[in-house]
Amino acid sequence: MRKVITYGTFDLFHEGHHNLLQRAKALGDYLIVGVTTDHFDEARGKINVVDSCLERVESVRKSGLADEIIIEDHAGQKMEDIQKYNVDIFTVGSDWVGTFDYLNKFCQVVYLDRTPDISSTMLRSSHFKIVRVGIVGTGRIAVRFMAEEKFVSGMNIVSAFNPETDSGNMFHKKYGIKIYSGDYGEFLDGVDAVYIASPNETHYEYAKNAIKAGKHVLCENPIALDRQGAVELLELAEERGIVLLEGIKTAYCPGFQQLINTARSGQIGEIRDIEACFTRLADPNSRECTDAQFGGAFLEYAAYTLLPVFKLYGTNYKDVEIHSITREDGLDSYTKIDLVYDQGMATAKCGVGVKTEGQLVISGSKGYILAESPWWLTRKFKIRYEDPNKVESFEPKFQGDGLRYEMSEFVARINKIDRNKYLLTPEEAIAMSEITEMFMKERKSRKKKE
Ligand code: CTP
Repeated sequence: MRKVITYGTFDLFHEGHHNLLQRAKALGDYLIVGVTTDHFDEARGKINVVDSCLERVESVRKSGLADEIIIEDHAGQKMEDIQKYNVDIFTVGSDWVGTFDYLNKFCQVVYLDRTPDISSTMLRSSHFKIVRVGIVGTGRIAVRFMAEEKFVSGMNIVSAFNPETDSGNMFHKKYGIKIYSGDYGEFLDGVDAVYIASPNETHYEYAKNAIKAGKHVLCENPIALDRQGAVELLELAEERGIVLLEGIKTAYCPGFQQLINTARSGQIGEIRDIEACFTRLADPNSRECTDAQFGGAFLEYAAYTLLPVFKLYGTNYKDVEIHSITREDGLDSYTKIDLVYDQGMATAKCGVGVKTEGQLVISGSKGYILAESPWWLTRKFKIRYEDPNKVESFEPKFQGDGLRYEMSEFVARINKIDRNKYLLTPEEAIAMSEITEMFMKERKSRKKKE
């Protein structure tokens, strides 16, 4: 009996997949089909797959061509499977010519002609209109957004807006996209959605006008500098059926979700303390180090450090105290936020002028979770117990600098792919702005006293 094996994602199962399986089957007597897991696809940079792993397995099963279906979940597995299942022929489509020649050591490798003019990528873009995105602001974060675009299918960055023409012109030179500097309405006319990466104090106004014009909004944190502003924006978006997503990239990283869910699972017992810390000695000429009114440590990093607290304790804190080390001009170079809940306590620390260990520690009645810097990207974390020899380590998948996960969530929500808002709930977004409001008030009163 000649055994044949092939692998694929088989998303939105199409004629090309059917033809490939048919020809693969014809190469031998028994066909094994490996279907990728969602995590494996994510790790390979395929983050816009529409069908779940089980749906994709079901599509392959329904084709009636597979004698056996297996799951592919890690790099190097092909070699293991070929030996484990005693495979004679490995085959894939001609888009992979050369890539799998190394498997020749174990079996025959056959590249089959790909069916022309059809692919899952094509189907994804015809099912869903490509979202035309305009960027508001052309600074550092906008540059990172441009770099990540190629990893997120379904969106096209078509223009940018910046009233400061010098920065806009530089951006145009680098990326060639159209830059608007005058009429925000005119800029909005040409897009379906905006990514707001402008200075903090301008987010609310840009977001509000975009929502009113019927455009979806992905807005860097904070969406508003006060509670009322956040509530207004979220309500306005809800009323108009517009997606409003706050850009706290950690919230969308798969590893962070795994860490939070591990903490919630009871593995470390009752959670009694959370300590989250994020500091970076920023360039002294950067906006966060020069803008005494809207720069500083809190506005730069507090959202990241508050996120695990809200995720694990909720947003009904009993008490908050904010302490800052401030420069003469009022800019906070280091800020500590202490929160008290019925269940336990938390400290969120952030700095642009003080450096400390950037770690997240979640302490429980049975053990603690330790995620070292950069925990906000959550590439790894550990669970530790009283017994120092007992340590559980986790290394979740993580690609790029994290932005692509929030971009992909944004596109999925616009396309109404069935997702609820658990990654960052409206209550959490409102609580972020509520604490921001307290901080801003304290900053103001400090200035007045001087
Ligand atoms: N395939 C094919 N003809 C096509 C599309 C896919 O023969 N028109 C083959 C691929 O070469 C691969 C298998 O089908 O061997 C599974 O491919 P998969 O990557 O799941 O499908 P694509 O449509 O190529 O997906 P995507 O657009 O997401 O890359």
